[in-house]
Amino acid sequence: MDTGFTVDHLRAAVRDAVRAPSLHNTQPWRFRLHDGGIEVAVDPLRRLPVTDPSGWGARLSCGAALFNLRLSLAVAGRPARVRLRPYPNDPEVVARLVPDRPRPPTPAQRTLHAAVPRRFSNRAPFGPDPVPADLRWRLGEAARAERCWLELVIGVSAVNAFAEIAHTAHRVLHREAAYRAELADWVRTGPADDGVPAAAGGPVSQPQDLLPTRDFGDRDRAPGRDFEAEPLVAVLGAPGNTSVDQILAGQALQRVLLTATDAGLSASLLSQPIEVPGAREVLRRSLGRFGTPQMVLRVGYGRPGWATPRRDVDEVVDLLVDQV
Ligand SMILES: Cc1cc2nc3c(=O)[nH]c(=O)nc-3n(C[C@H](O)[C@H](O)[C@H](O)COP(=O)(O)O)c2cc1C
Repeated sequence: MDTGFTVDHLRAAVRDAVRAPSLHNTQPWRFRLHDGGIEVAVDPLRRLPVTDPSGWGARLSCGAALFNLRLSLAVAGRPARVRLRPYPNDPEVVARLVPDRPRPPTPAQRTLHAAVPRRFSNRAPFGPDPVPADLRWRLGEAARAERCWLELVIGVSAVNAFAEIAHTAHRVLHREAAYRAELADWVRTGPADDGVPAAAGGPVSQPQDLLPTRDFGDRDRAPGRDFEAEPLVAVLGAPGNTSVDQILAGQALQRVLLTATDAGLSASLLSQPIEVPGAREVLRRSLGRFGTPQMVLRVGYGRPGWATPRRDVDEVVDLLVDQV
C-alpha cells in the first residue's frame, strides 16, 4: 500500500523547487509533509510589503517552485496529483501534492528537469539573432500546457507601445521612497543566500533604454543603445486574477522559462507593468485578450551567466517532530 511521500522525497524535490525565480530573490516559500502529502505555502515573512502588497508576486514565485517540485517528483518516478489552494480557510497554502500511480518520467519531463539548474535571469543585452518561429511556438505551447497564455508583442510599434506602458509603471513605482528602499534592501554586494547579487543585476539602466530595468546592477556601461534593438517581449497571462490564477501563472512561467533554457534561449523578467494596476489594465486592453497579464518576459540569445544563491533546503522545510 502507498503510504505517501517521505521526508527523502520531500528533501530531494525541494532542492529543485528552490531554484525557481522569485521577486527580488526573496524565496517566499515553505514546504512540509502533512498526512503523506507535500504542501507548498507562501512564507508571509518573505512577502514584500511595498512592492507586493496583494501577495501576487509571492504566489507567482510559489507557483514556479511548485512546477519544479512536480517535475522533480515525476523524474524520480513518483509523480504527484496536485490540488491548488487545498484549504479555503488557509490562503497561505498554495498546493498539496499526493502520490499518483508510480511511473517512469516522459522524455519531455526529463528534458525540462535537466534545464532547472541551468536557468537564470539574464538581464544583459541579448544578441541580434531573432528567435525562430518554431521556438516561439514552443514557448506558447509551454504556457498553454499550464492553462495560461503567452502573447508575443510583435512589430516595432507594438514593442514601442509596450515600452511606454512599462516606463510609465516604472516611474510610478520609483516615485515612492519606500519602494526604492525595499529594492535597495534586496541588492547584495557580499556573500548572501537570498537577494539579487549586484553582479547578476545587469547593467545600470540608462534613460535611452527601450525597456526599463530594475536597478539591481552595478555594471556601468558606455552611453548608447547596447540592448537589442528589437527585443522579443512576451506577456504571460492567466484566465483571471484570483490567487489560483496567480499560482497557475507561476507554474506556466517556470515551464516557459525551462523550455526557453532547453532551447538555448535566455530570458529576463519585467514586472513593473504588472505591479501597477492601471498599467496592467492598459496592457491587457492593448493585447485584446481575455484574462489577466501576470508577467512580462524578454527572450533572446544571451551570453553565459550564472545562477543566483538560494537558502539551504533545511531552512525552507518544516519537519514535524514525528517525521524527523
Ligand atoms: C514575480 C516575479 C517578478 C519579477 N520581477 C522582476 C523584474 O521586474 N525585474 C527583474 O530584473 N527581475 C525580476 N524577477 C526575477 C527575479 O529577480 C529573479 O528570479 C531572482 O532574483 C532570482 O534569480 P534567478 O532568476 O537568476 O534565479 C521577477 C521574478 C518573479 C518571480
